[in-house]
Amino acid sequence: MQIKIEGLTKKFGTMAALDNLNLELEDISSLAVIGPSGGGKTTLLRILAGLEIPDAGTVIMNGKAIDFSSEQSLMAHRRRIAMVFQAYNLFPHLTAFDNITLPLIKTRGVSHEEAKSRAETLLRQLGLAEHMNHSPTQLSGGQKQRVAIARALSLQPEILLFDEPTSALDPEITAEILDVINALRNEGRNIILVTHEIGFARHACSHVAFVSEGQVATHGESETLYTDSDSDEFRRFISRIIGWKV
Ligand SMILES: Nc1ncnc2c1ncn2[C@@H]1O[C@H](COP(=O)(O)OP(=O)(O)OP(=O)(O)O)[C@@H](O)[C@H]1O
Ligand SMILES: [Mg+2]
Repeated sequence: MQIKIEGLTKKFGTMAALDNLNLELEDISSLAVIGPSGGGKTTLLRILAGLEIPDAGTVIMNGKAIDFSSEQSLMAHRRRIAMVFQAYNLFPHLTAFDNITLPLIKTRGVSHEEAKSRAETLLRQLGLAEHMNHSPTQLSGGQKQRVAIARALSLQPEILLFDEPTSALDPEITAEILDVINALRNEGRNIILVTHEIGFARHACSHVAFVSEGQVATHGESETLYTDSDSDEFRRFISRIIGWKV
């Protein structure tokens, strides 16, 4: 996956959520985005997903620039991406199975047969075979998140975006969802993951970007960044989290 972001700026009123953000990465498989609350991570992810329009700047993903000025090309871009949210965003009145098949049939023009086959395969893969006909209220948090991941995968996206997919889950279930994400990464999928799990960010993603005050304060390969980064802010952030955890 290639990501080239230049001068990305997004204001809400007078407040700049992203403030001339730059990031250039070539040929990476997975990127973790970490950083303090309010730093701009979700805003960045939503722009990459084509859900938010920046005030300035350019974004190129895998050689294609996102054209934010045309609704038609934004629609085309959104089809390249699937996003998994912290709050699952499942349709509450639909079963797990229908949560996957209906968007495929209604918005992607996939045949009933194909949608059924994708949903069954993915739900089985994610250990949800027995829960296909359950609605979100009948599922645990971890199960709901697995349905949301299955739905994202059913769209066969070029790039998968996760925004804090585990922050609503307790530690054991968090580990289970992180295992699922790790397996996806091992399959060679392109993943961008916003997470507060800094240990997972380091071990499961090949690259890490530290976003603070609307900019990428430091980024690099996971293996080296945690020891070699020259950003004091990044070091303080990491040591504060590790300090609390011990
Ligand atoms: N729709 C919006 N309207 C107004 N302000 C917003 C909106 N979305 C984000 N912001 C502001 O932009 C800044 C960046 O927010 P963002 O959600 O991108 O941060 P974040 O890094 O994802 O934080 P967190 O770790 O808490 O999820 C924050 O100050 C936030 O209040
Ligand atoms: Mg956020």
